[in-house]
Amino acid sequence: MALPVFLRCAIATIALCAAACGKKTSDEAHPGSAAVTAPAAATAAPIKIGLLTSLSGPFAEIGKLIQNGIKTFIHVHGDTIAGRKIEIVTRDTTGPVGEVTRRLAQELVVQDKVDFLVGFGFTPEAAAAAPVATEAKIPMVIMNAATSALTTKSPYIVRFSMTLPQVSAPLGEWAAKNGIHKVTTLVVDYGPGHDAEAAFTKTFTAGGGQIIETVRTPLTNPDFSSYVQRVKDSHPDAVFIFVPAGEQSLAVMKTLRERGLAEAGIKLIATGDVLDDRGLEIIGDAALGVITTHHYSITHDSAENKAFLAAYRETNGPDAGLPNFMSVAAYDGMTAIYEVIKKLDGKLEDERRDHPERVMELFKHMAFTSPRGPIAIDPDTRDIIQTVYLRRVDKVDGALRSVELSAFPNQKDPGK
Ligand code: PHB
Repeated sequence: MALPVFLRCAIATIALCAAACGKKTSDEAHPGSAAVTAPAAATAAPIKIGLLTSLSGPFAEIGKLIQNGIKTFIHVHGDTIAGRKIEIVTRDTTGPVGEVTRRLAQELVVQDKVDFLVGFGFTPEAAAAAPVATEAKIPMVIMNAATSALTTKSPYIVRFSMTLPQVSAPLGEWAAKNGIHKVTTLVVDYGPGHDAEAAFTKTFTAGGGQIIETVRTPLTNPDFSSYVQRVKDSHPDAVFIFVPAGEQSLAVMKTLRERGLAEAGIKLIATGDVLDDRGLEIIGDAALGVITTHHYSITHDSAENKAFLAAYRETNGPDAGLPNFMSVAAYDGMTAIYEVIKKLDGKLEDERRDHPERVMELFKHMAFTSPRGPIAIDPDTRDIIQTVYLRRVDKVDGALRSVELSAFPNQKDPGK
């Protein structure tokens, strides 16, 4: 098969950049890892899954959470499906850096000949890989990046995480009905932040609320002090916040405390990213009582979630700590990939090279019970339909947890 011009150019670029751009962290380098321990039962060539996510620098934790979710799935379900061995080929995007991700995606497609591209903690990573997926007709499974428009960037994208409008819209509706009249929004100044701000504003103002100020913060190295001071000076009833889970959410919470927002009578309401399961212990009692909306909490009471939590700990060890919503999306993305391979009886290449749409068609009609609850893919948008939960931070057996109070079932992405 003649390679498209785009990919021929990519080969040259890769030859120059492979060493310099992003670190190779392929699981082949860790022969003890879950992905490669079982003997190859299959005679056919392995199916390769190219994992692109940030594994170094300030955003390393996000990549690790996704990687651990994938490892957990393989630990539970094995590394062979429909007679085909599954091989994860991992590349470190180093953070939300589009250029690096694009080169690594090209490398995975051209050199490693992967069958799927997966991962994508950040919107800029997914946006940069989308044209590569389109050109090479490689199905691309988003395991976190949550800007609404991402699935429109390639017909080969399917998303198993969430969108910011999906989780923010119910919170606007709730706030307007629960005695909050004036809100200042604080979001990170890129795709998911803009989406969160717009979706919250729409439902909150439709319910009679008023946005009195909008504050946007930089994606890299933010010092939140002046932004949080602006929130305080605007004297809202509540501040609505979205920042990426991890370093940023911890930093913004610390600044809210330092600037005395709670003492000034300003409530915090946020997407679950800001008070994610892993951050609560570090934030401490300042998180108590805060209302968030999100699609997953480790307290979700179901057999599937209990099994997932036990498997996550068994796979990754106690030092890995708790999983979060990103690990669950990665686990679910792998569930879907295995299901597709099973339905195609392991004959992925034939189907994919001639009819890549067959793979996407199977993704589009995917529905199963995730550790977070029931999920399905909307065939029109290739985006996830799921329950969004309203939660409050409480103490459960002495530990801080986001406890589900009520549910908004069957939420499509309202951003499209
Ligand atoms: C994104 O870049 O789309 C993103 C990153 C972290 C989050 C949510 C969304 O917590």
